[in-house]
Amino acid sequence: KLHAKIIGLGKYLPEKVLTNADLEQMVDTSDEWITKRVGVKERRISDEHTFASDLAVRAAENALKDADMKAEDIELIIAASVSPDMYTPSISCLVQKQIGAVNAAAFDVNAACPGFIFAITTAAQYVENGMYKNVLVIGADTLSKITEYKDRSTCVLFGDGAGAAVVQATEEETGVISCFLGADGEHGDCLTIPGLRCDEIDKERRPFGNMHTIWMDGGAVFKFAVKMMAAATLKVVEDAGKTMDDVHLVVPHQANMRIIEGARKRLGIGEEKMFSNIERYGNMSAACVPIALCEAVEEGRAKKGDLVVIVSMGGGLTWGAVLIEL
Ligand code: ACO
Repeated sequence: KLHAKIIGLGKYLPEKVLTNADLEQMVDTSDEWITKRVGVKERRISDEHTFASDLAVRAAENALKDADMKAEDIELIIAASVSPDMYTPSISCLVQKQIGAVNAAAFDVNAACPGFIFAITTAAQYVENGMYKNVLVIGADTLSKITEYKDRSTCVLFGDGAGAAVVQATEEETGVISCFLGADGEHGDCLTIPGLRCDEIDKERRPFGNMHTIWMDGGAVFKFAVKMMAAATLKVVEDAGKTMDDVHLVVPHQANMRIIEGARKRLGIGEEKMFSNIERYGNMSAACVPIALCEAVEEGRAKKGDLVVIVSMGGGLTWGAVLIEL
């Protein structure tokens, strides 16, 4: 039986920093409110010429370097994003061209913040059934480009970044152990980015008139997030016949420090088992989990052989988790 192992991780963050002090100059907010209610101190912002695929290329190159692999060895690229440069070509095709992954098929998934969870689950299916040996999985978002910087209830939350993982087939019993994906389209209208339907979706909820930006019922998403992130984590752990005591680290989506804390308490685990870098980057949608996983390894919080859960939730609504042995 084949298993899907993560053999390389990479990240890329744009250099420009937007601090809470900067936001105080833009909307009626304060460093104190943002720190206490959300937990973000600063986020990274891409310039006007840099899009999600540009960040994805840099993260992909770093992951390939970490895996000690050449782009030509990649057979499939799956990229997750809610803020792609274009409807087509996809981010994955743009990356394929830029890094020279000439032997790779490429497609994107749209599952909002848990996009990387959906993408790595998809990659694992291809690897486990023997269709592809080497898959590049990317989460890349430039939320600053679809953020309404007049709306204080959303603009303090979001930032830009990209993370990537190289997944490889192995006969060893390791890597992706169990996966869970969920969706609830019924409640999808509590988080929207209208796109082509901008004339009919949410007009009354958008006092600033900007129709391509994120609108969110923060309170509804908050409650859903705490419940579903804890439930998805437990599901993948129990499906593998394990308990939270066996798990070394949970790497959750970085939407709000209070959501992470709420989920941690529901799981009954200590702070040392919950990873967070929200203070430095905010919510970067599909990029959060791979960047956090990459940093957890860089910082020695997770190492080879450790059991790690990656978990996320977001627009759609969607949610999911993956239990991995690193
Ligand atoms: N600065 C100061 N005051 C603010 C700000 C701000 N930036 N934003 C809101 N407020 C005010 C509100 O106007 C409100 O004032 P009022 O009581 O006078 O009406 C008060 O603060 C409380 O507002 P709430 O919306 O109740 O604040 P809450 O504690 O719920 O925090 C937040 C709002 C941060 C949005 C929170 O609900 C949250 O994090 N939600 C989840 C977001 C999330 O998980 N998103 C994930 C998916 S994102 C994606 O998929 C792209």
